[in-house]
Amino acid sequence: MSDPYADLGNAEETVQTAIADAMDARSVDPAQVAMRHAYMSEITLPSGAFAVEMGSGTGHVTRDLVTLVGAEHALGIEPSQIMTDRARQHHSDLAALEFQVGDAKVTGLGDDSVDLVLMHTLLCHVPGAEDVVTEAFRILKPGGILAVFDGDYDTTTVAIGDFDPLEPVVKYMIDVNVHNLWLPRKLVPLVSAAGFIPGQLRAHSYLAHGDAAYFMTVIDRALIRMQSEGLLTPKGAQGLLSEAQTRIAENRFYGFMSYLSLIATKPG
Ligand SMILES: C[S@@+](CC[C@H](N)C(=O)[O-])C[C@H]1O[C@@H](n2cnc3c(N)ncnc32)[C@H](O)[C@@H]1O
Repeated sequence: MSDPYADLGNAEETVQTAIADAMDARSVDPAQVAMRHAYMSEITLPSGAFAVEMGSGTGHVTRDLVTLVGAEHALGIEPSQIMTDRARQHHSDLAALEFQVGDAKVTGLGDDSVDLVLMHTLLCHVPGAEDVVTEAFRILKPGGILAVFDGDYDTTTVAIGDFDPLEPVVKYMIDVNVHNLWLPRKLVPLVSAAGFIPGQLRAHSYLAHGDAAYFMTVIDRALIRMQSEGLLTPKGAQGLLSEAQTRIAENRFYGFMSYLSLIATKPG
């Protein structure tokens, strides 16, 4: 089924807005912030570095490139005008950040001009992901760094027992939202084929807690799409939504997914 992230700029406005809201919720989730800190702490940049995030969404991870990783200037490239407008609004306080509507496969940036390229939950959504990696190789300076972080989404689960009725909801969401489900497990051969020297592939566990705000965006969006596909009536969707909300209110919601990160270097 079609992954809305694969052509988000042309998706319905309601879909783009729901995804922008989900990215905003995810970006401030403490466990997500901790994972970003963990893999970004492996990156060392030269002074005056120029960093690019491909697939920058609402810009929170591009911001990390300046505030956490120490780039002097960071550019976010994103095909959705709605996401880009929101990124500009969120981060207008930081002059070192710039956001452009564009395509990671054809950035228009010069050869050997960038110190760091970041892809944070991008590649699993892009048909022809190898073209994005090739473009990163082209624009990076010799010795430049490619950082990739992506969902290992087949690990996603909310089940707290056999035949848990919420489980197919999140499995459905992964099925309709992730174009390249297995690609993150094949990052090492993917970046090696483009000429990069790969570092260690690392796994990061994400467990929802508190109000499970990000997991609830996953469940909400799945229920909306299941209704539009005729799989659920509004009453059925409401029942599943209240099941998730009740588990959260009673502090017995479980939501887990694993992510993978890889830092690679362009030789030179
Ligand atoms: C899951 S979102 C991640 C956004 C951001 N990196 C974050 O973590 O908050 C994936 C983003 O990649 C963008 N994207 C998809 N295909 C792209 C392409 N060919 N070039 C650049 N961005 C793309 C989508 O529009 C979407 O905003």
